[in-house]
Amino acid sequence: MKNVPLRILLLTVVAGVALIGWQAVAETNRTTFPANIDQLVHYTTVTRGEVTEHMLTTPEAIAAVKNGQPIPNGTHFVLVDYRQGEVFRYFVMERGDGWGAEYPEDRRTGDWQFQWFEPDRSVNMAENTARCQSCHQGRSGSEFLFTYDRILDFDGAMID
Ligand code: HEC
Repeated sequence: MKNVPLRILLLTVVAGVALIGWQAVAETNRTTFPANIDQLVHYTTVTRGEVTEHMLTTPEAIAAVKNGQPIPNGTHFVLVDYRQGEVFRYFVMERGDGWGAEYPEDRRTGDWQFQWFEPDRSVNMAENTARCQSCHQGRSGSEFLFTYDRILDFDGAMID
């Protein structure tokens, strides 16, 4: 190493730290943008000031919740966040067989994984989805969903 100029050495260290830092926040995971988003059911809306959130999922997941059954693997839940009538971002949860085992126990949210998608449906690489999980962990008693009770109340009528 003694022949390596100091500035190259420093550059390598800086690049290494930057890379590790990047890995700590940004990640892709198994969560996909739902190809069938237009067929998902809009079961409730939450408004917060300027933000309007449409919650979507599959008819099968709604039926499972209403019947007290586990939500099937492959299910997507989508929170479409609208600001001034435009999509600002999509928050997606997806469930798959054994997906939870990819995380340490203190981060795990059952077999659900989480992702933030931009309006163009690309992943927001600046998000650390451990944040999503830590908040949704509080809902372990209701499939890690905040709007579980709204599914129970949903009467199946179309919401625009
Ligand atoms: C600070 C807590 C918190 C964090 C962090 C958070 N959520 Fe949520 N999430 C909520 C709440 C509360 C709701 C219910 C809607 C509302 O009240 O706005 C919700 C609803 C959802 C829903 C609709 C299904 C459900 O649970 O009702 C999805 C999908 C979702 N979040 C995905 C995500 C994703 C993806 C992330 C990370 C990018 C994330 N959430 C981060 C609190 C959080």
